[in-house]
Amino acid sequence: MTETTLVTAETRAARYEDVLRRIDALLEGEDDWIAAMATVACELHGAFNYFHWTGFYRAVSEDLLVIGPYQGGHGCLRIAFDRGVCGAAARTRQTQLIPDVEAFPGHIACSSSTRSEIVVPVLTPEGRLLAVLDVDSDDPDAFNETDQHFLEILCRRLGTQFATTQQQ
Ligand code: SME
Repeated sequence: MTETTLVTAETRAARYEDVLRRIDALLEGEDDWIAAMATVACELHGAFNYFHWTGFYRAVSEDLLVIGPYQGGHGCLRIAFDRGVCGAAARTRQTQLIPDVEAFPGHIACSSSTRSEIVVPVLTPEGRLLAVLDVDSDDPDAFNETDQHFLEILCRRLGTQFATTQQQ
C-alpha cells in the first residue's frame, strides 16, 4: 500500500501544519529567495512520501520558467508558459491539480514514472509571478484539496515575504 492511501485527511492536514510551522521558523528574517526555495523544497519533500519531485520553476520573463531549487530526479531546465502543467499554472495563475498526467494535454514527461501532480503559482500581493511550486508523484491521484489548501497558504506567504525579489 502506498503512502498516499495510508494518509488520512486528518493526518495529512496535521502533517502540513507541522511542516508549515517549521518552514515559517526556518525562513524567519530570511531575505534570500533562493535559500528560501531550497529550504521549502527540502522540508516538503522530506515530509510526504508521495512527493517524488518537489521544487520550483522561476518566472524569468513574461513567458519562460527556469528550474530552481528542487529535490528528486532531474527536471526539465526550461518550460515555456504554453507547455505542460507548470506552464498552465504560470499562464493562468491558478493552481493546477492533476490526478492523471496522461489525461493532461501537453504534459511534459520529464520523468516517465510521474502519474499525478500539483502546481501552485507563487504571486506577490501585487500579482507579480515569482515562480511556481511543482510537486510530482509516482502515485496516481496523489494530491487532493488538503494539499491544495496548505500549498496555497505556503505560496501566499512566500509571495508576501519575497515580494521585492528581483530575480533573473
Ligand atoms: N510535469 C511538469 C514538468 C515537471 S518536471 O520536469 C519536474 C509539467 O508538465 O509541467
